[in-house]
Amino acid sequence: MKKIGVLTSGGDAPGMNAAIRAVVRKAIYHNVEVYGVYGGYSGLISGNIKKLELGSVGDIIHRGGTMLYTARCEEFKTKEGQLQGIQQLKKHGIEGVVVIGGDGSYRGAKALTEHGFPCVGVPGTIDNDIPGTHYTIGFDTALNTVINAIDKIRDTATSHERTFIIEVMGRDAGDIALWSGLAGGAETILIPEENYTVKDIVDRLMKGYERGKKHSIIIVAEGVGSGVEIGQKIKETANLDTRVSVLGHIQRGGSPTAYDRVMASRFGARAVELLMEHNGGRAVGIMENKLVDYDIVKAFEKTRSVDRSMLNLSKELSI
Ligand code: F6P
Repeated sequence: MKKIGVLTSGGDAPGMNAAIRAVVRKAIYHNVEVYGVYGGYSGLISGNIKKLELGSVGDIIHRGGTMLYTARCEEFKTKEGQLQGIQQLKKHGIEGVVVIGGDGSYRGAKALTEHGFPCVGVPGTIDNDIPGTHYTIGFDTALNTVINAIDKIRDTATSHERTFIIEVMGRDAGDIALWSGLAGGAETILIPEENYTVKDIVDRLMKGYERGKKHSIIIVAEGVGSGVEIGQKIKETANLDTRVSVLGHIQRGGSPTAYDRVMASRFGARAVELLMEHNGGRAVGIMENKLVDYDIVKAFEKTRSVDRSMLNLSKELSI
C-alpha cells in the first residue's frame, strides 16, 4: 500500500492522539502516505479528508481528545453510507484505513472490509470492553481520573461521616467501576456483570458501621443504572446521610498516562504493519502482555467477561 487513511470514531479516549501520531509516523517511515479523515465516519461520507505530514502530528502525544475529531454516525450503518465513504477514499487513492475506536467503530471497519476496502481496528475506548484484547486505549487515564475523584470525595466523606455513591462510565461494562473501586478502596462496587439487591448493599454498609466505620464509598457502573436512583433507595432503606456524584465526561478527558501513550504507539504502529501486509479486517490488541491481531469479527463476540477474582478481592479487602 502506498496511501492509507486514519480516523477516530465513537467516544473519544485519551491516547487517541498518540495512536494517530504512531500511525502517521510509522507509515511515513515506510514511505507510505497518510490521510486524516476528520470527524469519524461522518467526515468520511462527506469527504473531509486531508493529507497528514510528519509535522501534522507534532506536539499531540500528550493531548487528550482527538485531533481528527470524532462522531457517532447513524448514516454509516447503511450500505449507501459505507459505499459513499469508499468512493471518497478512492478519490484520494487511499487503499486502506486504520480505524481507532470502540465496537461501533469496528463495525464500520468490518463493513468497509467486506465491501473490499481493507481496514484495521485499533481499540480506543475508556470502557476497556472490546473482546480479543485485554486493554483499550484510554482506560488507564480514565481510571486515574476516577481515582483522583474518589480520593477527593473520600476526604469530604470522612469529614462529614457520609455514604457516597459515585457513578462512573463504562457503558455495559464494569471494568472502570471494578478497577477504580479496587484502587480507591471502595466498600461496594456495583457492576452490570453481577446482580445486586439494595438489601445486600445496605446489610454490608450496616456491618461496616456497626464495626465503627464512619463513612462508605459505593462505586456504581452506569450500566447498572442511575447512581442517583440507587443512592435514593439506599438513603430510604438505611436512613443514612448519602450523597451522589456522577463523574460523567471528565472521565473522557485529560492528558493520557504514560501507559496509554505507550499502548497507543504500539497499537497504531502495528495497525500500519498489518495494512502494509494487506491484512484488512483485523483488529490489534494485547493479550498476556503480547501484541496480537485477530479477525475483527471476534470483537463482536460476547466473550469478554469481567475478572471475578478482582470483585471478590475488593469484597475481602473492604470489609
Ligand atoms: O464509550 C465511551 C463512553 O464514554 C461510555 O462510557 C458512555 O456510556 C458513552 O461513551 C457516552 O457517550 P456520549 O459521549 O455520546 O454521551
